[in-house]
Amino acid sequence: MKGFVPTPESVVDLMVERLFAGREPTAASSVLDPGCGRGEFIAGILRWCRHHRQVVPRIVGVESDPRHAMHSAGRFAQVPQVEIRQEDYLRATGLELHDYIVGNPPYVPITGLSVEERQFYRGLFETATGRFDLYQLFFERALSQLRPGGRLVFVTPEKYLYTESASELRRLLSGHHIHELHFLPERTFEPLVTYPLVTTVSARQPDEPTRIIRRDGRQSSVTLPAAASSWQGRLGEWRVTRDGSTLADACLRISCGVATGADDVFVHKVRDLPADLLPFAHPTIAGRDISGTSLPSLTSSILVPYDQRGALLSEAELGALGDFLRHGPRRSRLLARTCVSRKPWYAFHETPPLPLLRRPKLLCKDITRRPWFVIDDAGDVVPRHSVYYLVPLHADRLQALAEYLNSDASRDWLEAHCQRAANGFLRLQSQVLKRLPIPEELGGAIGAPVDAQLALQPG
Ligand SMILES: C[S@@+](CC[C@H](N)C(=O)[O-])C[C@H]1O[C@@H](n2cnc3c(N)ncnc32)[C@H](O)[C@@H]1O
Repeated sequence: MKGFVPTPESVVDLMVERLFAGREPTAASSVLDPGCGRGEFIAGILRWCRHHRQVVPRIVGVESDPRHAMHSAGRFAQVPQVEIRQEDYLRATGLELHDYIVGNPPYVPITGLSVEERQFYRGLFETATGRFDLYQLFFERALSQLRPGGRLVFVTPEKYLYTESASELRRLLSGHHIHELHFLPERTFEPLVTYPLVTTVSARQPDEPTRIIRRDGRQSSVTLPAAASSWQGRLGEWRVTRDGSTLADACLRISCGVATGADDVFVHKVRDLPADLLPFAHPTIAGRDISGTSLPSLTSSILVPYDQRGALLSEAELGALGDFLRHGPRRSRLLARTCVSRKPWYAFHETPPLPLLRRPKLLCKDITRRPWFVIDDAGDVVPRHSVYYLVPLHADRLQALAEYLNSDASRDWLEAHCQRAANGFLRLQSQVLKRLPIPEELGGAIGAPVDAQLALQPG
């Protein structure tokens, strides 16, 4: 059984009102409830018909879980208009069209799907991209089953408004008329704390603005962008966490990169390095190398006189690197640095926390017009001083953290809180980055336990 969360009656009634508002069903209409569970929406439709003295339309409930399907079939056995199908909605073929579709599709993140399921869905659904969630696929399939002019009302997580993985869903939706986005209270599905959103959409060209009903009750009208970019900025509201989680809670380290005090001595094109120096060489990146939305291919290496644990090698251990650094002009250059009064002549200006640095992380230019965080998935890049790096507490949240940090909401916050460089560009600083509010699901309290030793490293 995947993603069973029954919908409270008050929410069902609100959604059924939206479903039939200004367009009442007739006996010839058909309503679909995909993932109908134990029939809360079907009961809601029957309630609505009784209350409004309307005939009951044909109602089809689809449910993959045999126990729920059997429960629903029994519950509505006396209502001839109701048909319960026990089948997998996402694998069903011969899809028919409906005038109305309503429901609470399952929320199942990609991590809850088997490899076979992921592959199958990726082959079948346009919205199965990135770290997709099952509700996106329900949305896609349901949109394709709406008759022209038909209406769909779904309650789902609000996340699809802004996550990168839902950009294809936003693109699909933007070809429809979205009447309303209604943000429901966080405790709607108590004891779960979720961020539910009721979306009301019609299968017709968008020709009016969308009504937004916020959690605090404020209402507004917005014209949503047709592009697949995040809609959150347009709605002017990113959900700020209730528990006040900040980026510091989600990261093992937030810092600017390695300062050698003599990059011209330590940094070289890989192709120029003799083979005996390669064991000391790590791919490296400077702020100026970050211009696109993903990690560029790196051609430079930094020679690192530290071991894997981050301890400075002794002169005896330096081997070929020692010979290289001792070479006349290089040694003079290193000795001219201010730090040599307190450190061995070949040490970096600041000791690099290598065990943390060489983990999957996000990288961003330290001074930039628009901050953009790129992903170092392999965790092998050693960022230099002009790059900020963020090591997430949980490597599996790297992508989600990048999506959030690259969202309009996060950028708006950085714009409002970062200092400016002389050219007006934003200057990232770790004490500011650490205060950035983050969505609760990216916070530190959930997920796999952290390597305690690493967590103790200074931030
Ligand atoms: C969030 S629950 C909602 C249940 C019910 N509609 C309600 O609102 O109370 C989602 C339902 O979808 C069902 N489900 C999950 N995957 C499904 C699939 N592939 N096909 C059909 N039903 C599915 C689950 O078993 C669950 O009953």
